[in-house]
Amino acid sequence: MIIAFCCHYCAYAAADLAGSLRIQYPPGVSVVKLPCTGKLDVQLVLDAFEHGADGVMVAGCMEGDCHYQQGNFNARRRVNYAKTLLQRIGLEPDRIRMFNMSSAMGKKWADAVTEMDETVRGLGPSPLGRRA
Ligand code: FES
Repeated sequence: MIIAFCCHYCAYAAADLAGSLRIQYPPGVSVVKLPCTGKLDVQLVLDAFEHGADGVMVAGCMEGDCHYQQGNFNARRRVNYAKTLLQRIGLEPDRIRMFNMSSAMGKKWADAVTEMDETVRGLGPSPLGRRA
């Protein structure tokens, strides 16, 4: 299972567009809508893994286009920090990744989910997921 924390203004709309255009992408992704990726807390990420996520995507607006100025830059810093925490607890840092897209990029959303799905399949199920 992949959890995707999506900004309301861009990635969430891009996912919606991908659905409207019937663009195919792997089905095992659960979307959590955030007002902005700047709202992402590292604890949210850790909770996702603790509750069985095999991978976490964070998808925000294009750099420079965040509706809250620095939100997606803050999110990227938190994603990088989360990678170091994952490594410390024995999980692969590649299990979390940040993507940037606009609301018009339905194809990019589908490609991002496909990339993340391939990465997670390559890594195998999260050992934390088996405990959850
Ligand atoms: Fe989209 Fe901030 S409003 S990432």
